[in-house]
Amino acid sequence: MTYAGNLNMKRIASTFLAASLAAACSGLWCTDERIAGAAGAPSGAATSFGKTADGTEVLLYTLKNKHGVVVAITNYGATLVSLIVPDRLGRMADVVWGYDSVAGYEQGKSYFGGTIGRYANRIAKGSFALGGENYHLAKNNGHNSLHGGIQGFNRVIWKAIPLSSHAVEFTYTSKDGEEGYPGTLHVKVTYTLSGANELRLDYSATDEGKDTIVNLTNHSYFNLTGDPQNTILQHQVTLYASRFTPVDATLIPTGELRPVKGTPFDFTRASMVGERIEQNNEQLKLAGGYDHNFVIDRSNEKGLVKAAEVYEPSTGRDMEVFTTEPGVQFYSGNFLDGTEKGKGGRTYGFRSALTLETQHYPDSPNHPEFPSTVLRPGETFQSSTIYRFSTR
Ligand code: GLA
Repeated sequence: MTYAGNLNMKRIASTFLAASLAAACSGLWCTDERIAGAAGAPSGAATSFGKTADGTEVLLYTLKNKHGVVVAITNYGATLVSLIVPDRLGRMADVVWGYDSVAGYEQGKSYFGGTIGRYANRIAKGSFALGGENYHLAKNNGHNSLHGGIQGFNRVIWKAIPLSSHAVEFTYTSKDGEEGYPGTLHVKVTYTLSGANELRLDYSATDEGKDTIVNLTNHSYFNLTGDPQNTILQHQVTLYASRFTPVDATLIPTGELRPVKGTPFDFTRASMVGERIEQNNEQLKLAGGYDHNFVIDRSNEKGLVKAAEVYEPSTGRDMEVFTTEPGVQFYSGNFLDGTEKGKGGRTYGFRSALTLETQHYPDSPNHPEFPSTVLRPGETFQSSTIYRFSTR
C-alpha cells in the first residue's frame, strides 16, 4: 500500500472509531486509537503502546505487506497484538485476541499473543532435576508451573530492533535463577511478514553458566471470523498428527503417545472443532475440551513441516501452520470466560478463539522419553514457525 493509502486508512480508522462507540464494532476497527494509529503507520514504524504500571514506555511495531496485511507487535512480552488479514471478498479483520494497550497485557491472565518462555506449558509440581541438581520453579497453576511462571517472558520488556520494513527482532536476557530456572538465557525472536501473507517467527536462545531447559512458543488466540461473538466451534481444523500426549487431571502428560485414530482427537482430516468436543471422552472431560499436545508427524528429523491448518467457511479465511518443533498444543479456549476486557472494550467468551502453540511436549524435563529440552552453555536453540494466510 502506498503512503497515501496509509493516510487514507488512518482517516477511515478514525471515522469507524467514532462510529464504533455507538454501534456494535467488528473486525479491525473495533479497537482503540493506539492500534488504529499503528494500522495507519508506515511499515516498520513504531508507535506508543502506553506505559507500564512503573512508568516505562512500551512501543507497538507495525509490519505491512502489499496485500494489506497488517501485523502489530509490542516489545512488552514480544507479543503479537494484531493480525489483520483479508477474507475471500477482501474485507479485512483482526483475527487475534488482545488488549488496547500495555496495561491490559500487564493485568491479563490469558497470555494473548505473548512469547512464552522460559518453558512453554506445564512442568509438573514446578520441579525437575538436571545435572544432579533439583530445581524448583515458581508455581502458578495449582501445584504446577505454567508458561514460564509468574513473570514469564510474556510479562517482561524486550529490546526491539527493527531489521527492515518487514521484520522486527526482539531480544531478552533471562537471569540465572529467574522464576527458578538455572543458567543465564539470551533469547531472541524475530517476526517477519512476507509478501505471500506469511508471518514467520524465528526463535533462538543461548545459555551461559549452568545447563538449562528451554521451550518457546507464541500464544496467539485465533478466530478467523475476527468477531468474538462467534465461537471457533465451526472452524475446521486439520492437525498433521497421528498421536497426542494424553494428560492427567492437572493437564500434565502421562508419558503415553496415544494414537488419535478412532478418537475425537483425530484431526488428520479437517473436522469442525465443535463436532466431537462434547463427546463423553475422558481426555476431553479432563481438559474441558481440547487442550492437548499433538505429536507432529514428520519423516525428516529437522526442518519446517506443516503442523496444522484452520479453515473458516463463512469468511473463507485459511491459516496454515508450519514449524520445526515436534509438537503443537491445540487449545480450544476453554478457560476464556468473557470477564477480560479486550480490544475496543470487547470481551472474549468461552471457546471464542483457539491456539496452536508450536512447542516441545509439556513437562519434557520430567519425561526422558520425550524429545529433550535441555540447553547447555555454548549450544544454540533454534526454532521457526510460520503462519500462512490465504482464502478459499
Ligand atoms: C495453554 C494451556 C492451557 C491454558 C492456556 C492459557 O494453552 O495448555 O491449559 O493454560 O495456555 O490459559
